Amino acid sequence: MESHNPAKVVKDVVQAATAKVADALSSDVPGKPGSAPAPLNEPTTPAEPLPPKKEQGTPDTRTPTGAETGVPAPAKAQQGAYLTTSQGARLRDTDHSLKAGPRGPILMQDHHFREKITHFDHERIPERVVHARGAGAHGVFVGYGTAADVTKAGFLAKGKETQVFVRFSTVLGSRGSADTVRDTRGFATKFYTDEGTFDLVGNNIPVFFIQDAIKFPDIIHAGKPHPDREIPQAQSAHDTFWDFVSLHTEAQHHTIWNMSDRGIPRSYRTMEGFGVHTFRLVNEAGETVLAKFHWKPKLGTHSLDWEEAQLLAGVDPDFHRRDLYDAIEAGAFPEWELGIQVFPDAPEETFAGIDLLDPTKIVPEELAPVQAIGKLTLNRTPTNFFAETEQVAFHLGHLPPGIDVTNDPLLQGRLFSYVDTQLTRLGGPNFSQIPINRPHAPVNDMLRDGFHQHAMHAGVAPYKPNSLDGGNPFTTEENAFADLPVVVAEAPKIRANPVTFDDHYSQVRLFWASMSPVEKEHIIRAYTFELGKCYEQAIKERQLQCLANIDPVLCEQVAVGLGLPAPEPTVPLAEVAPSPALSQVGGRWPGDGRMIGIVVDPRGGLDDVSEVRRAVFAAGMVPLLIAPHGGMVGGDPVQRTFATARSVEFDALLLAGAPAPAPDALPARDAKAGAEGGVALAAVDPRVELLIDECWRHAKAIGAWGEGVAALQQAGVAGTPGVVTAESGGAAFTALQDLLSTHRVWERFPASVA
Ligand code: HEM
Repeated sequence: MESHNPAKVVKDVVQAATAKVADALSSDVPGKPGSAPAPLNEPTTPAEPLPPKKEQGTPDTRTPTGAETGVPAPAKAQQGAYLTTSQGARLRDTDHSLKAGPRGPILMQDHHFREKITHFDHERIPERVVHARGAGAHGVFVGYGTAADVTKAGFLAKGKETQVFVRFSTVLGSRGSADTVRDTRGFATKFYTDEGTFDLVGNNIPVFFIQDAIKFPDIIHAGKPHPDREIPQAQSAHDTFWDFVSLHTEAQHHTIWNMSDRGIPRSYRTMEGFGVHTFRLVNEAGETVLAKFHWKPKLGTHSLDWEEAQLLAGVDPDFHRRDLYDAIEAGAFPEWELGIQVFPDAPEETFAGIDLLDPTKIVPEELAPVQAIGKLTLNRTPTNFFAETEQVAFHLGHLPPGIDVTNDPLLQGRLFSYVDTQLTRLGGPNFSQIPINRPHAPVNDMLRDGFHQHAMHAGVAPYKPNSLDGGNPFTTEENAFADLPVVVAEAPKIRANPVTFDDHYSQVRLFWASMSPVEKEHIIRAYTFELGKCYEQAIKERQLQCLANIDPVLCEQVAVGLGLPAPEPTVPLAEVAPSPALSQVGGRWPGDGRMIGIVVDPRGGLDDVSEVRRAVFAAGMVPLLIAPHGGMVGGDPVQRTFATARSVEFDALLLAGAPAPAPDALPARDAKAGAEGGVALAAVDPRVELLIDECWRHAKAIGAWGEGVAALQQAGVAGTPGVVTAESGGAAFTALQDLLSTHRVWERFPASVA
């Protein structure tokens, strides 16, 4: 007979799913440091280097000129079971330098000492001048064939697979800065196409601070730490940044995106990406269109809460990096669709009155829909951070036939800057031969010599014309990159922008008008925080004037927080049609790779815990058990203790129990346990109460069953929006999943603005 017990139905579903996840469970949660577990005692048997971890990839084993070598990846960097010098001579001791007696000075002749220390002394290279902090992953791009009408680029053909490497980054911070700061994120993709490498070097924000690349040093000098004290690190909440953007008002559009939730993404996996500039595409027939590139994440576009972002910067400064690697390791491969907005290639280069060469403007998706042209899946993490993520070099001039640039003055300047900086950063002109940068198309250039040359060029005539090398290599029309004969209108040589670039406010207003009330609240909070951190009153007042020119409500609300009068607008406020596509709130999305914290009490209530853990794995998420102590509880491994857990690590919280204060719940041992000596009296461990409290404050879904319900009551959140109780663990998780699909319990942020 069919069961009418909902808890039983859920249990049956969970049991059915369990069979599928045996493998996932055996690999357990992501984060293993190596491909084999570490033995207790120091190993004594020599062996070949361990293989990389299963989720790790490396660049293809190609020659500097793009040919496949077939060399297995592990043999590229290390081989043999014994420690050697860089020349392959085996070593019998690497722990003692060669000295004149045990108490004597080190001898100059100690070549092993000198090699080891000298190499170490030169391990660092300059970090990127911007986007220094980043994380990369390998993947594959598959074309849909839907772009054939507008571009002949071969990698977009239907079903065509192309290897890619993607590097995500923040802009302002140093290499060791925190991931979750408020900043723009870089989204740079290297497509190793058969027709030459294509680099799409974009951001998670579709507009830029400046219209002309000559201003790039200005905006970056303003955003970086103050040159005297070198503070603050990796953030815009300081005088020099707001000084610049309030004076240079074309920056206001990018700035409002930064102040919105887009400035603090939940994950690289939940970011949109934008090529920003307008590109020119050409098809087989030689016809051209103008186009903008978009990346649309499968998981939706989601952000952190500001307090969450701040806590994470201390609790887990590597949060985004870890999230990317963990998701790939857990098999929750991040995915994006690549899309294009297409515009006629008319001489005025505008669409619906919007200047397509102005990188401070978007074209709302409602006016020009984004058409999907292919899918990106990131499926392997780097094997070596330095060799891959640090040495990768992107350049906007890496274009395949079918994609060309436009005269956007920001794009034009970028065409110069990237290679120029890489000459210094990567130590010479041959960085395209570093494995991660090697093309997958045959290379036959006439570039020669230089530092770190890896190619053994044959022949005697690296010049054209020649007869000694048979006239080779030849140029060709066939499948070649062709510079399009775009007509440049006759004009005087001049340092000026087109007048259409002068409107600095109407699209900022459009963005504001497109936000939901809760998103507007977050924007007000962000401006109030950032300007509140400025020292100079004049800078706050000047930026308030800019806000008045965007929207009076925005200006008034921020002015209240700053304790300043709200000025009147100095420009007419534009009538704008909101673009719903700009809001992040209102849909439902899959929860792949989300982290579910499960609080357990070793004293009881453990019946459903293993089952819930399996159900979380089966849903493509990661369960992390949180217990008073490490080790095992009820047959399941504990990933976090009350001392090591912090709410910001979890997307949602389940409570299987209401654990009493653990022995280490003493303020002297764990500050999170609180300073008010009531530990002995508390019914629930104060760290569990803090977990619940923070998850609630950050509008995360919370679920409980059994004894866990008592913990909700103790924390005073039972019965509030997004807090569910159920008869069984399975039912609690099912309800939690439903809440998680909207990313946050938005009702917990009541809004005061419409
Ligand atoms: C639409 C505007 C821009 C976008 C979307 C953008 C995006 C990016 C991204 C994603 C990176 C990091 C690449 C990586 O991960 O290795 C980067 C690096 C860099 N960008 Fe930009 N950028 C923009 C404007 C500019 C401008 C105007 C300049 C200079 C005129 C510039 C100069 C640089 C430099 C020097 C680097 C460091 C490159 C390296 O060391 O390899 N960028 N940019």
